[in-house]
Amino acid sequence: MDKKISLTGIKPTGTPHFGNFFGAINPALELAEKYQARYFIADYHALNTVKNPQEMLDHTYEVAATWLACGLDPEQALIYRQSDVPETHELATFLMAFTAKGMMNKAHAYKAKVQDNQAAGKDTDSGVNMGLYTYPVLMAADILLYDTNIVPVGRDQKQHVEITADIAQSINHNYGEEILVIPEAIISESCDIITGTDGRKMSKSYNNTIPLFQNPKKMRKQIMKVTTNSQEIEEEKDPESCNVFSLYKLFADQAEQDALAARYRAGGLGWGHAKQELYEAVERKFAPMREKYDALIEDREALDKILQEGAEKAREIASATVTRIRKAAGFPC
Ligand code: TRP
Repeated sequence: MDKKISLTGIKPTGTPHFGNFFGAINPALELAEKYQARYFIADYHALNTVKNPQEMLDHTYEVAATWLACGLDPEQALIYRQSDVPETHELATFLMAFTAKGMMNKAHAYKAKVQDNQAAGKDTDSGVNMGLYTYPVLMAADILLYDTNIVPVGRDQKQHVEITADIAQSINHNYGEEILVIPEAIISESCDIITGTDGRKMSKSYNNTIPLFQNPKKMRKQIMKVTTNSQEIEEEKDPESCNVFSLYKLFADQAEQDALAARYRAGGLGWGHAKQELYEAVERKFAPMREKYDALIEDREALDKILQEGAEKAREIASATVTRIRKAAGFPC
């Protein structure tokens, strides 16, 4: 039997960090065995906020090199740029006619922006572009183009996948056929919230991220910046309320976690020691991937080639979907 299809996209809006790796990249890559996996760089989604071309290019290559360094095999799985697949826009326009405006008003990113504006006494739609307003429709096109069964995403994206399913159902219902596959979100519960250097959720908007791939010296410096309380070395410490331990758990197996937790509770462990343990665990995991990343990021031509080959394969699948839907709708094809 053919494997089911999993698809996910990452916006090239920043340099990939621990939160991206544990929250999105790693869970998505783990699905590559069980599912036919498709991964893409959502540059049109990034365009809503990234207006500087150099930033767009740099982050696009960083995201591509990260996927590949973390284990994506382009022979097995698809990897492509969203902007290399123009069928996305044809499908998105089609979906518009089946998308209730009211549903867009309730989409969380737009709604949050409106609420912020209202709280600040500004015009409701201040700073809102149509790309943000119709964001879920473009995302639905990304998903529905590839007959996606499951979408591994963070919790905040669940609503978007539900909107996608809703739109697809309206279309299938209207034409009385199973033209589009109804997708489902898969949320990686265990790695939902990755702690940032200040103890809040790791996020670019909080400026508390630790980039995945940087030279060891910089990595160590950033880990040393993780906030802790002001307990003295000799005091007994609680691992469960500690930001350093919370990050350590991501890198260590159960035995290693238990061992460090025991040292916390025994007293005599300083924050510098705990951070050093974290740094060493990070290096054990990421050093081999960093070597691959450093080679990939230097060779943009090779990355372009991989992305273009991916796009060709992606377009074959995408154009079949577009033809199916054009036929159903009574358009020439
Ligand atoms: N909205 C997703 C995010 O912000 C990125 C994305 C765009 C995506 N299109 C997608 C994710 C399709 C999964 C499937 O992270």
